[in-house]
Parts: sequence; structure tokens; C-alpha cells
Amino acid sequence: MQQDHNSSSDPQSIFDKDSKYVMQTYGRQPIVLESGKGSLVYDTEGREYVDCVAGIAVNNVGHCHPRLVEALKKQAEKLIHVSNLYYTEPQAELAEQLVDVTGMERVFFCNSGTEAVEAAMKLARVTTKKTDFVAVEHSFHGRTMGALSLTYKDMYRAPFKPLVQEEKFVPFNDAQAVSDAITTNTAAVIVEPIQGEGGINVPSEGYLKEVRKICDENETLLIFDEVQTGFGRTGTWFCKEHFGVEPDIMTMAKAIGGGFPMGAIAARDGISFGRGEHAATFGGGPLACAAALASIDIIRDEKLVQRSKEMGEYFRKELSRLSTDGLVEVRGKGLMLGVQFDRKCADLVDYGRKNGILLNCTSETVLRIAPPLVITKEEIDRVVNVLEQA
Ligand SMILES: Cc1ncc(COP(=O)(O)O)c(C=O)c1O
Repeated sequence: MQQDHNSSSDPQSIFDKDSKYVMQTYGRQPIVLESGKGSLVYDTEGREYVDCVAGIAVNNVGHCHPRLVEALKKQAEKLIHVSNLYYTEPQAELAEQLVDVTGMERVFFCNSGTEAVEAAMKLARVTTKKTDFVAVEHSFHGRTMGALSLTYKDMYRAPFKPLVQEEKFVPFNDAQAVSDAITTNTAAVIVEPIQGEGGINVPSEGYLKEVRKICDENETLLIFDEVQTGFGRTGTWFCKEHFGVEPDIMTMAKAIGGGFPMGAIAARDGISFGRGEHAATFGGGPLACAAALASIDIIRDEKLVQRSKEMGEYFRKELSRLSTDGLVEVRGKGLMLGVQFDRKCADLVDYGRKNGILLNCTSETVLRIAPPLVITKEEIDRVVNVLEQA
């Protein structure tokens, strides 16, 4: 029988429905989140948490920023969806803005990170007329068949073989290995400028420059996956700026719409899909574009890129003085930080949640810290104090 879906806010009834009706692909934390403001979220029991997960590097402008909410409301009242068979102003405006912030030439819109990677792969193939890709160990590029081919973790890949191509992963931070792996049939090399899911791995200074050179010498394209590192996360608009290297194609998603689902790729001069070579029903829809335009405006007006750099430095300094059991190193850039332990750190995620902090472990031994870029010093102190007591 049909139930009133708002009949109960009892967490247990939500856990029960989830376990009965939802495919159990996620290991979830036992709380039901209901609302958020800035860097804080609240559960159905009224408990407050400092959110150091931010939807995994999504809510860069903070939860429910009033300007983002207003932009969505205004657009929803006018037009929610139309086909890409027609023009809309928000899409054209956003394309111009993205070209401005990325320094690239043209964009294609889709709906998620994995779709952006798929689009980048197709664009690389159609541009070069070559078929293969070289990816990096510990990479994460998404879960659809193409993106999964370039994602390192065997646990994610093994049950779904055959994938789009056989494994071709090279060690992280090893330019010579990239050179050795490229063949005359390599369409592109794909790299996360800082690896996210792999454990917040920052490459050494000259690595990406060297990879750029190798790609040029071999007429192979270079794709930067900036899905996690984009939109101020690392203290620059895009992570590529830290290394002074330009890719041929870059992927974006996560923070692009401030929490509203969207993905995109941008490509340099001379690289573009032609008519009919790719499409997405919802790609660049008016609502998503309105959200992304508002987010970019907020990041600019509130100087969130600079703030990410400054708060990231403060956070890092405070975390570095912790004497938490097993802590090895704090690394990262801006507000994309990883705290490396010499043991699994899931217990710290539990401890944090019980003490009002949302945290997340990546690659089991690294605590990922990726809060909204609007986080305050007081909120950072709260996080550090909890970790100190842990
Ligand atoms: C670097 C990178 N690329 C691609 C993806 C896939 O994005 P999505 O989950 O939106 O498909 C992720 C997600 O974590 C990511 O971190």
C-alpha cells in the first residue's frame, strides 16, 4: 500500500526503508541529514555537524547559500528543462563563464563526473583517431564502463570486465613510465592533478610539465580530470594552475553547480566535437546552468579561491601539530587535505560523527578533509579539537 512519504522522521524507519528498497551500494553513516547552512549540517535529531566532506568536494559555496537558492527558485519559476535542440540564455552565459575561468576554448555539458570522463574519452578518440588511454595507479575517474577502464582499484573493475580497454596504469608521479606506456595508438593520457580518491596525492613540481612534454612529442592528448580539484578546492580556480600546465581537455563536475548535479568538459583551441558526435538530454539544462552561474558568481564575489588557500593553510598548520595515534603526515593544497595514518582510520570517522564532525576516509588510511570553502577559523578549531581528543 502507498505510504505517506513524510509520515515519519524517525531515523530507524528511514534506515529500514533504505535497507529494504535501495540497492545497498554505499556504506552509510547512521544519521539522517535534513538541512544545512554554510559549513554546518543538521540531522533529524537536531544534532549539528561541521561538514568536512561537503558532498565529497561538492558544496564549495556552502550549504544552501541564499544566492544559489534564489537563483534556482527564479529559474525554476521560468523554465526547468528544454531540449538542446533549442538555445537558452543560461547555457550560453555559463559556457562563456567556464571558458573564462578555465582558459580553454569550448565546453560540452553533461551531468556528472563520470559522464565528463566519458565525454573526454570520446573527444580524445574522435580527435586523434587512436583508441587507447594511459592512466595512473590509484586514479579514480568514475564508474561507467569507459571511466571505470581508467579507474585503478581492481575491486571496482574486476566484476565488470571486459571494460573499454585493458589495464594500462603507470605509477603515480613517474613521467618516464608515462613515456614508456605510450604507443602509436595512445589517444590520451589522463591524470588527476592531485589524486582525490587515491588518497590526496600531490605530484612533485615538474611531473605534469614533463608529462605535457611527453604527450606533445607523441602526438597524444593530455586530459586533466579536475572533477574533484576544480572551482577553488585547492586554492586556485583549477588545480592545473599550481603546476603551470595546460591540458588539451579537462573534466569538471562536483562543485560546478554548488550541489546541483552537473558535469562539463572544456577543450583547447582546435579540439571539439562535431555535430552529432555527442549529446546528453539533460546536459546544460537551464536549472543546472543557473546554479552554476550563481556558484561561480559567489566564488568570485566572496573570494572563495583565496579563502580556500588561506583556510587550507590554517587547517593544515593546526592538523600538523596533532599528536593523534598513528598520524604520519598532512598533505594537500587549499581545502583539499589528506591526513595520512599508518593504520585504518574509520574509527576517527565514527568518533568525529559522535562529536559533531563529518569526516571521510579515502583509501582506508587517509582522512580526507574537504569542507565548504566558506568554513570559518572557529569551525576549523572545532574539528581540530575533536581530532585532538580522538
Ligand atoms: C577525479 C574524479 N573523477 C571523476 C569522478 C566521478 O564523478 P561522479 O561521481 O560525479 O560520476 C570523481 C568522483 O569522485 C572524481 O573524484
